[in-house]
Amino acid sequence: MDALFPAFYILAAAGFILAIKWMNSPATARRGVIVGEIGMLLAVVGTLLRFEVVNYEWIFIAFFVGSAIGVPIAYMMPMTAVPQRTAVSHACGALASALIGTAEYYRHTPSGFVMGALVLETLLGFLTCTASLMAFGKLQEILPTRPITYKGQNFVNLGILGLAVIIGIALIISPERTWLYPIFAVLSLVFGVLLIVPIGGADMPTVIALLNSYAGLSASAMGFALDNKLLIVAGALDGSSGFILSVIMCRAMNRSFTNVLFGAFGTIQTSAAKTTEKPVRSASPEEAAEILDAARSVVIIPGYGMAVAQAQHKLREMHDILTKRGVEVRFAIHPVAGRMPGHMNVLLAEADIPYDKLVEMDEINSDFARTDVALVIGANDVVNPAATNDKTSPIAGMPILKAYEAHTVMVIKRSMSPGFAGIDNELYYMDKTLMLFGDAKSFVGSIVKELNAVGAAAASAG
Ligand code: TAP
Repeated sequence: MDALFPAFYILAAAGFILAIKWMNSPATARRGVIVGEIGMLLAVVGTLLRFEVVNYEWIFIAFFVGSAIGVPIAYMMPMTAVPQRTAVSHACGALASALIGTAEYYRHTPSGFVMGALVLETLLGFLTCTASLMAFGKLQEILPTRPITYKGQNFVNLGILGLAVIIGIALIISPERTWLYPIFAVLSLVFGVLLIVPIGGADMPTVIALLNSYAGLSASAMGFALDNKLLIVAGALDGSSGFILSVIMCRAMNRSFTNVLFGAFGTIQTSAAKTTEKPVRSASPEEAAEILDAARSVVIIPGYGMAVAQAQHKLREMHDILTKRGVEVRFAIHPVAGRMPGHMNVLLAEADIPYDKLVEMDEINSDFARTDVALVIGANDVVNPAATNDKTSPIAGMPILKAYEAHTVMVIKRSMSPGFAGIDNELYYMDKTLMLFGDAKSFVGSIVKELNAVGAAAASAG
């Protein structure tokens, strides 16, 4: 059996690499998920075949308990809560990594390189565990979401991390000093909590991508400590992809890493959360349907509100009707629309909207000037011209979808409330803009009804 397991591991590693490659595009994403799952199954089966397994009973008990908790969570969790669900997964994965490292330390008390890997594994594992739990608490609003800051905070935080690193180095030099280990573990756990305290709930999705990276690095270090090559590969893939993702998210919001980690973005958010009392033009579903029916080209801009309202299926109906009537309908995708990477792509794919109708920001921005209608659905910050016009704005410099260049702009949202960044949107006050006040799903549903009624009237007249 032992001769077989490298083959399992090589196939599993190939599965993980292909999964990441295929998840890059909506057209191949499903295939990517399946091949990743097969890779994980091969990794688990391969590991169970190893001679080191000491007790199958406990493994199967843990397997059933874990599945009994994980499967219902996966089915019951709404799409809008995926960031916090991911935070819990990272907390569990990182805790597992740290506990395995701890068990290895007390069982074998390794030395040299292996002890170095074990120290890195447990440091990252413990801090990622508490940091992820804190991120979960902030996103779920169990904990205060605003950043909590005080004078000398960075000094205290870096001091605790520095102390943990010094004790870690002392453990690598003299692993037999077991009394140091609990101090090292506690400092790592405390640092995880303190790392998240100054970060606002608003920045949590980016932080979660970064914690994903830490959990991956911890697993990779565990691979070195346990001499398990698949863990090294899988952890490195996880670590680097999580890091690249957080860089992409920071860029799309025009924020630097240091600004996310130490910038206390939520402070700006609450202080800027006021809207002006300027007049806006609003319209009814009938008027909106007429405008859409008369258009030749429509660009739909979905955002967080579409996800909250689950309006994607109604949008699909609207897309089908308009397309049948010869209107060119496309969807403009901003990289940080919604609350997690790919949020809009996932929802629109769920409603079977053809992938070729989804156009990325850089590609579609030059088309807005010759678009008849830009229909904004539950999006706000990603179309806010303040990002380019107002240097003092919290979103200054963030690339936006240029909806304001379209001939007519229609915005579906429930009120004049601001979005994630907590700032007013001058797009709503432009002469060419019509506000369609209401819940995204029911408003789009009403437009669909009107479009159908117009179609039926035209058919009976014809
Ligand atoms: P937001 O700026 O957050 O605006 C969402 C809008 O949806 C709100 O103004 C809200 O207005 C409306 N809304 C909420 N529920 C609705 C419903 N049921 N029906 C209709 N409208 C509804 O969203 P966005 O434009 O997608 O921008 C995303 C923001 O999140 C950006 O600032 C981005 O930087 C940030 N962010 C994104 C990510 C990722 S990875 N996507 C990660 C971190 C941060 P009403 O309350 O008036 O309805």
